[in-house]
Amino acid sequence: MKTLYLRIVMTTILVMFVSSIIAFILSNAYYQYSLKPYNDKKITEMTEDIVTFYENNPEINLKGYLENTAELGYQIYLVDNQGRDAFYGGEFGNKEIHPKVVQDVLGGQTYHGIAEFPSKVFITGFFDNQLINTIGMPINVGGESYALFVRPNIELQFSEMRIFFSILLLLTILLSILLVLISTRYIVKPIVKLTEATKKIAEGKYLIHLNVKRRDEIGKLASHFSQMAKNIAQLEEMRQEFVSNVSHEIQSPLASIQGFSQTLQTEKLSPEQRDHYLSIIEYESRRMSLLSKQLLTLASLDKEEDILEKSSFDVAEQIKQVFVMTEWSWRDKDLAIEMDLPSTFIYADQKLLHQVWTNLLTNSIKFTDNGGSISIHLRKDEKEFRVTFKDNGMGISQQDLPNIFTRFYKADKSRNRKEGSSGLGLAITKKIVEMHDGQIHVESQLGVGTTFHIHLPRM
Ligand SMILES: Nc1ncnc2c1ncn2[C@@H]1O[C@H](COP(=O)(O)OP(=O)(O)OP(=O)(O)O)[C@@H](O)[C@H]1O
Ligand SMILES: [Mg+2]
Repeated sequence: MKTLYLRIVMTTILVMFVSSIIAFILSNAYYQYSLKPYNDKKITEMTEDIVTFYENNPEINLKGYLENTAELGYQIYLVDNQGRDAFYGGEFGNKEIHPKVVQDVLGGQTYHGIAEFPSKVFITGFFDNQLINTIGMPINVGGESYALFVRPNIELQFSEMRIFFSILLLLTILLSILLVLISTRYIVKPIVKLTEATKKIAEGKYLIHLNVKRRDEIGKLASHFSQMAKNIAQLEEMRQEFVSNVSHEIQSPLASIQGFSQTLQTEKLSPEQRDHYLSIIEYESRRMSLLSKQLLTLASLDKEEDILEKSSFDVAEQIKQVFVMTEWSWRDKDLAIEMDLPSTFIYADQKLLHQVWTNLLTNSIKFTDNGGSISIHLRKDEKEFRVTFKDNGMGISQQDLPNIFTRFYKADKSRNRKEGSSGLGLAITKKIVEMHDGQIHVESQLGVGTTFHIHLPRM
């Protein structure tokens, strides 16, 4: 399994590995182009000193002199023109050297083996313990010419340093890997928590507690995630409530339709009773049809995908039409109607606004007793249109007032049952008004009456 943890650790180690290779190549290039000529020059001077000192003091024993010099940290090779040779100091890893080189040095030339050492990417000539990687110079021994080859004994000169640097490098690598292992765990931990939380949400458990206090991107992700989980939980609760409300609203008319149709089938009834039961069945089915219409409206409004089909029309005329349409019901209750509706053109969705006035007027009619009164006003100023629906009906209690725009909320349950309400009218009304960037307010006092104010912006 490729975990994020493993991935980060592996990547870091790979990065360390690659960067050390690149660093090695770069420092090697630095040696080849800058350090090598300098090194060659330095050792040439050193060899020169060795030769000059001997030639100025020919009485000293050459073997002893070279042995002593070698002990100071050099590898030395001495050869004469007959091919007799001797090594001093640390042994060469590769003792081969071209006879031509020896001949040239015997002939008086200086051999720059260090500067000429072949440069390859992975070979740092500095460490190459080969006879060709030396400085060669002629040396006069008792009137005879010898060739002297010298290179620093890296092992001797740098042995402690080498151990020191090796330990330093090894410890750096080991500690880096250890720290990467630990720190990666710290980075990955909140992601593991988040993954577990997502799994929980997928299983339908929305109550999660993410204890991530970090302020970086992962911390932000965790806090947004918690917020999202809370919102989903809320939405889920609303959905369940909505479904149970819908089922309940459907259940009661269905039960009465079932009950009355059974009675009609099984019992002997007078024609009047029969008509009465049939009219109940018709009423209940109409109620269900209305409910499903309201639900469909809500669903389409909820989508909110710019469904407004705006046009210019006279709202006063539209409200009057609603009065005509509902005439039978307010005449039936003997309600006094007062209208102040000056002709006013508005740019809005005609069908949806029609529903707003219908919902408000049917509410006023429904919740006002016989002989009451309803008044409607329409006003406009520079900024907005204001429509007021006022009745002197039963009113709404202060506890119920904040809830009346909630879906399925009905203040007076018993009365509503009789009136065939579903409690969706005002929710739809509010939604439509808000889609037009407007506002709806209510004032009400129990037993005195209710007033709804609708404000719609002029543009
Ligand atoms: N004019 C009013 N006077 C008194 N109470 C009202 C008035 N308008 C609304 N209400 C209260 O607010 C509740 C919610 O109204 P809403 O229009 O949303 O639902 P409804 O009229 O009961 O049902 P529906 O409109 O879906 O048929 C009503 O049940 C009623 O209790
Ligand atoms: Mg209503």
